[in-house]
Amino acid sequence: MNGPLGVIPALQGRAKRAIYQFTGGNLPSITGADPPPLLKQEFFKLWVTGANGLVGSALREHATFATGHREVDITDLAQLRLFVKEHPGVTHIVNCAAIAGVDFSETHREEAFQVNAVGPENLGILSREIGTHLVHLSTDYVYPGSVHRPLKETDPVSPCNYYGETKLEGERRLQRVNPSALILRTSWVFGSGGTNFVAKLLQMLQQQEEILLTNDHWSRPTYVVDLVAAILHMRDEKGIYNFANQGVASKYEFALTMREEALAQGIPVVTKRIVPMPGSHFPSPCQRPVYSAFDTEKIEQKLFIRSWQEALREFLCVP
Ligand SMILES: NC(=O)c1ccc[n+]([C@@H]2O[C@H](COP(=O)([O-])OP(=O)(O)OC[C@H]3O[C@@H](n4cnc5c(N)ncnc54)[C@H](OP(=O)(O)O)[C@@H]3O)[C@@H](O)[C@H]2O)c1
Repeated sequence: MNGPLGVIPALQGRAKRAIYQFTGGNLPSITGADPPPLLKQEFFKLWVTGANGLVGSALREHATFATGHREVDITDLAQLRLFVKEHPGVTHIVNCAAIAGVDFSETHREEAFQVNAVGPENLGILSREIGTHLVHLSTDYVYPGSVHRPLKETDPVSPCNYYGETKLEGERRLQRVNPSALILRTSWVFGSGGTNFVAKLLQMLQQQEEILLTNDHWSRPTYVVDLVAAILHMRDEKGIYNFANQGVASKYEFALTMREEALAQGIPVVTKRIVPMPGSHFPSPCQRPVYSAFDTEKIEQKLFIRSWQEALREFLCVP
């Protein structure tokens, strides 16, 4: 069980390296060494929901309270209210709880709807009631995926699968009940916690001679460490922002770079062939967006974003 964590005295390890460095210009880089001054302030008391997942587990060490599904179910408003009554003083909530499995959402519709649409609405109601800032994570899957140009926050949304529909409904419900909340859309998140394509790919590179990967779907990969830094930096903002590392890739292109980088770093790789395939080769109960790469100009007014290649290099070299 993951009970409240207590106040974290200092940032450690991987996450510490990810926090801002104030370089040359005015924009904080999210690849630096020092925690932002605000994280040291006494009034920052963060509650992370969905704290056992890929993003949630990367945020835990910044949190005063970190809860998983078993401790607090975000679909139950009474549970949320009870938690803040028993744990007063929360200044910020980051909602990392979701049904993030695209295929799973298609076949477990009611569960996906409750967690992805009703959950953020509940957190919106709660955060408004107690005057707490709320950051909610959303996805590139709110876009139709058929427009072949980088997507701005203001571009039309129209998901092509049920996961995307539930995430879009969550955004809309949240904005209705708490217009001061921040919705951070992200895409194709990778890192060392949870299950994700890049962590699996690393295993495959070490075990399989041949790997087949899609080469007709494109998005912008996001290193979870950079996402965490962006969440912390943006935590007092409101409205919708898109965030991902710089650079568009298909999974095939990503794997080619990863193989090269792993070899350069002396990581043993057995894969001899990476074969490009159409998405239709891989059976799925639903469609996926063909092109869902963000335009991140809006958030780049507030922070600097490094390339996914640079982020991947760091991911591979951190033990
Ligand atoms: N991963 C990606 O590539 C990606 C891309 C775009 C957007 N996003 C968004 O980023 C956010 C975080 O995604 P992630 O990859 O970290 O997902 P994840 O690894 O699947 O983690 C989600 C967590 O949500 C928790 N959860 C499920 N139902 C819950 C409930 N009713 N109440 C409380 N917690 C519940 C689960 O907790 P338990 O383990 O305790 O059951 C799980 O650990 C999501 O909003 C997702 O839509 C992710």
